[in-house]
Amino acid sequence: MTQLNREAIDNILSRRSIRRFDPSKHVDDALVKVILECACAAPSANNYHPWHFVVIDKRQILDSMADLHPYGKMLKTAALAIVVCAETEREGKVMRYWEEDCSAAMQNILLSANALGLGSVWLGVKRGDNDLEGRLKSLLNVPADIALMAIAAIGWPLETKDPHKGIDPHSLHRNKW
Ligand SMILES: Cc1cc2nc3c(=O)[nH]c(=O)nc-3n(C[C@H](O)[C@H](O)[C@H](O)COP(=O)(O)O)c2cc1C
Repeated sequence: MTQLNREAIDNILSRRSIRRFDPSKHVDDALVKVILECACAAPSANNYHPWHFVVIDKRQILDSMADLHPYGKMLKTAALAIVVCAETEREGKVMRYWEEDCSAAMQNILLSANALGLGSVWLGVKRGDNDLEGRLKSLLNVPADIALMAIAAIGWPLETKDPHKGIDPHSLHRNKW
């Protein structure tokens, strides 16, 4: 493996969910731009790019999001959040694979954040209880016909975690199940 390949693999293995952030440290717009460029580089069915990203860096809005999300209290210290939304239809065409497309974009957000030395965590929204999606859509003024899939909370990490290693033995099948 070349050095470059090793770094790419290590970035994937070292990505962990980070939930403790330094609330005093800002994330430069240049870094946010790199993360968004990586998000937009994700594969999407028919190359439709159904995703939309709402970047939140106002403390008051991050705090309100934390109050709404039952497992999103770390938003109170995150420097920013990227809310991953999707067009589920475009000009009468159903974006059949929008969840897969947006999940790929989300993974690119988390991986690029890790490569930049930032911490991040995926917060599920779409299947949240008590119309979590609807309540977040109202807060963020997301149009009714747009889905709000998930939130990436991002900031400078105040915790470290061991990298992933090994293959889950129960997940592996060869030639047939
Ligand atoms: C669809 C999805 C929803 C998640 N929702 C939350 C969440 O609401 N709050 C949270 O703290 N972590 C959430 N996570 C992060 C998982 O808890 C985390 O990925 C898992 O525990 C594995 O840890 P790792 O990311 O460090 O490998 C979510 C992850 C996924 C993929």
